Amino acid sequence: MTTSADYTEKIPNNVSLHEDRRLQRALESWQPNFLSWWESMGPTLPTQEVYLRTAVNVGREGWAHFGHVPMRDYRWGIFLAERDRDRRIAFGAHKGEPAWQKVPGEYRADLQRLIVIQGDTEPASVEQQRNLGATAPSLYDLRNLFQVNVEEGRHLWAMVYLLHAYFGRDGREEAGELLHRNSGSEDAPRILGAFNEETPDWLSFFMFTYFTDRDGKYQLGTLKESAFDPLSRTCEFMLKEEAHHMFVGTTGIDRVVERTVQLMAEHDTDEVAVHGGIPLEMIQKYMNFHYSVSLDLFGGETSTNVANYFTAGLKGRWSEERRKDDHQLTSDGIWVDSVTEDGEIGQAEVAALLGLNADLRREYISDCQNGVNRWNRILEEAGMPQRLKLPSVAFNRKVGAFSGIEATPDGKRVSVEEWQRQQGDWLPNAVDKTHVRSLMQPVHQQGKIAAWIAPPRQGINGKPFDYDYVHLP
Ligand SMILES: [Fe+2]
Ligand SMILES: [Fe+2]
Repeated sequence: MTTSADYTEKIPNNVSLHEDRRLQRALESWQPNFLSWWESMGPTLPTQEVYLRTAVNVGREGWAHFGHVPMRDYRWGIFLAERDRDRRIAFGAHKGEPAWQKVPGEYRADLQRLIVIQGDTEPASVEQQRNLGATAPSLYDLRNLFQVNVEEGRHLWAMVYLLHAYFGRDGREEAGELLHRNSGSEDAPRILGAFNEETPDWLSFFMFTYFTDRDGKYQLGTLKESAFDPLSRTCEFMLKEEAHHMFVGTTGIDRVVERTVQLMAEHDTDEVAVHGGIPLEMIQKYMNFHYSVSLDLFGGETSTNVANYFTAGLKGRWSEERRKDDHQLTSDGIWVDSVTEDGEIGQAEVAALLGLNADLRREYISDCQNGVNRWNRILEEAGMPQRLKLPSVAFNRKVGAFSGIEATPDGKRVSVEEWQRQQGDWLPNAVDKTHVRSLMQPVHQQGKIAAWIAPPRQGINGKPFDYDYVHLP
């Protein structure tokens, strides 16, 4: 197995694609469909060249190459992390056995389903973000948006490769369907609800890359543990690209908070909307929304499907190998969020295998908290008493234990009437959305930035902020 990508091929890859003519032909016939999907459903802003990074190998050091390229000529390819020939299954009923290089017949349907669900989210996010280019706050941000978009396109390639290479005719059909479903479509929507909502403005984009891409990171983390080695290796490399998406979200919100704080200090008021900023209260509401819909993506607190996936070795836990237990969990318990008998928001103990979604969500929540701490440090350093806060796990939930009740961001249960009366104080309401959208005026001049966000501390790949990241027609 080589680590360097072969760029002489039509489809760049490090999986020796030329050795399997049938597979190569199948993927080469999928490629034009992908490109026409990109042209029709990808970024709508016309551009000439964008300063993008492309993967050149999968090694720890120097895997990326940077350069100006027309986006449609981006070399989407197939890159798997290096194979560990001694890799053994780390958990479940097959713990200790060699990792699988082929799909075992008994798990074929389940594995295919997991890959399709993951694969569906990748092009979905490109579709959700397609109109954002028109209102980018700077060329630097525009470039980051496009980098995220091309990489989500590559993640689609990663899943399509697995479907074509390991799942026969069914896999090829599913690969076709991944381009037919579209975010928000009436007839053929994307599989998961959160991926059918448009990302209408840049505050939503930063929240999406912080909270929803981070859900993706945790899902990939569980698939990286999979006994099915090609899936594991694919996800391992995708996680490297995903780190940049998290960075875009984290620093994007940093910069919004920073600018808001500047305006608050300058005008000695919290009401920065009239001064062209986004008030902290609105930032909090957008956070409340994106965090709560992202929690829903983890599924119900208890799940027999996920217990079965774990036992079968299809998907593990976050950092499976660092866990100090027997990795089979047949006799362990776990506390999960629940509505108690007297109707309060509380916890209940269930079999550990059943509570694996809750286990993953717990890891995710503590990761989300790190961002909130960062943003609060910006407030603290500016001497502001206000703080941002993750809402309660029971707030605004449509999936799982709390889907049938209403709760405040502080986790107090309220009646449906109370919820309806107050939800506009907790989630972005029409006034908030109108204000945020009014700020979304494009700033496409080199070195300039919109007034609602602070410039980044550093540019990309050692370039300054005022670099020509995107060439517009
Ligand atoms: Fe992705
Ligand atoms: Fe991502």
